[in-house]
Amino acid sequence: MNLFVKKPISQLVETAEGGEYQLKRSLGALNLISLGIGAIIGAGLFTLTGNTAAVNAGPAVVVSFVVAAVGCAFAGMCYSELASMIPVAGSAYTYAYATMGEFIAWIIGWDLVLEYAVAASVVAMSWSGYVTSFLNDFGVHIPAQWAACPFDMVTLPDGSHVHGIMNVPAMAIIVVISLLLMLGIRESATVNDVIVVVKLIVVLTFIAVGFHYIKPANYVPFVPPNTGTFGEFGLSGIMRAAGIIFFAYIGFDTVSTAAQEAHHPQRDIPRGIIGSLVICTVLYILFSFVLTGMVNYKMMRGDAAPVATAINLTPFPWLHVVVKLGIIGGLTSVILVMLLGQSRIFYAMSRDGLLPKLFSDIHPQWRTPWRSNMLFMVFVGFFAGFFPISKLGNMTSIGTLLAFILVCAGVMVLRNTQPHVPRPYRCPYVPLFPILGILVCLAMMTSLDEETWWRLIIWLAIGLIIYFTYSRFNSLLYKKQARKG
Ligand code: ALA
Repeated sequence: MNLFVKKPISQLVETAEGGEYQLKRSLGALNLISLGIGAIIGAGLFTLTGNTAAVNAGPAVVVSFVVAAVGCAFAGMCYSELASMIPVAGSAYTYAYATMGEFIAWIIGWDLVLEYAVAASVVAMSWSGYVTSFLNDFGVHIPAQWAACPFDMVTLPDGSHVHGIMNVPAMAIIVVISLLLMLGIRESATVNDVIVVVKLIVVLTFIAVGFHYIKPANYVPFVPPNTGTFGEFGLSGIMRAAGIIFFAYIGFDTVSTAAQEAHHPQRDIPRGIIGSLVICTVLYILFSFVLTGMVNYKMMRGDAAPVATAINLTPFPWLHVVVKLGIIGGLTSVILVMLLGQSRIFYAMSRDGLLPKLFSDIHPQWRTPWRSNMLFMVFVGFFAGFFPISKLGNMTSIGTLLAFILVCAGVMVLRNTQPHVPRPYRCPYVPLFPILGILVCLAMMTSLDEETWWRLIIWLAIGLIIYFTYSRFNSLLYKKQARKG
């Protein structure tokens, strides 16, 4: 049996149009841009920027945001071409099935769990931190042990240190959002639209107000000299920071996972991807410039809420409350879109027989893959509640970078093997742009630490075991070939 058996594109599109599995088509271009922004602006911007400036790049974290944006721009154009050509659910996984065969498709699908499910846990932890702090401001105190996992130490009001028990707020938000997703995409998209508007207002307000409190001295030195260790300032620091804050851009590709729920996927998916990416890139560069101008980078080491620290330097205490609320809302929408994307990827893999059927069971009334949502509710909720996920952000970054590289490669492969299939959106300058995309993403991957690489390798090894013991023999393509042969 050929490991590299490919699924014909025409068959992909045809089955996507078919009866019993049909998802509800309810999303327009603006919904899709909003879906993208909903997934993009989150824990990466609000929590990683400060510490990454303090530890890796200094004020030059602004440059790291540009480097990461360049990698995402190339990958975004490649995603858009494939999404307009193959407008079905499943995103990178489905494209790989059509271009590079089942085995690579499996690797990508499995790898995307790092991007979606693991990222959702990371963001839920961050959400829990902001909610706890927000409630604190209003005199509502959640006991510290119940907002931390067993691996973390927390300080009690009497000054003693104890281990956490479980992160209840993080688990709660995962449960609530999963239930929302089970009830239906239309409702979820509306909630997302509202949250995205609030989030944009908060980010723009921070930029506009903060701009007046910039101290030019904080930009000196703009690129602090390297300490002698790879990744600590200097050029290597800028690159490592790019690999870490790459997390902040993750999410634009989620737009492509909703292809089967879009009214006009060929036209609107590229608009959704590129539109959300452009808007977020501009905001991130301005935001990180203002933040590092307001607060000296050295002061942000280990600061879980650098944005709050910056706002304390302004004479507007009310802004503190508004911004925290906006951040909480912003993180909520990230979790929503990540969980949505995850269930759609597994939906596609299950329909191909690579995962059990329960991942593609559609509820007769809600028309959503509700069993899949429920399973991920348990899996992601468990991680969010019981694991120290501070390092999982890097795992999400490395996993996503790998997926982006495979997508860029996919565009080049398809231009050669299927030159005549209509491409409503074409990535410019092929193969130059996809190659540049691969190089920039690879540079960011190699700048991440060794531990992160090991985690990726172990995760992929688990995936290989599942593939060779279950998926390969249950694959619909495999069964079809076996019948023929
Ligand atoms: N880009 C998303 C975030 O920053 C994952 O939270």
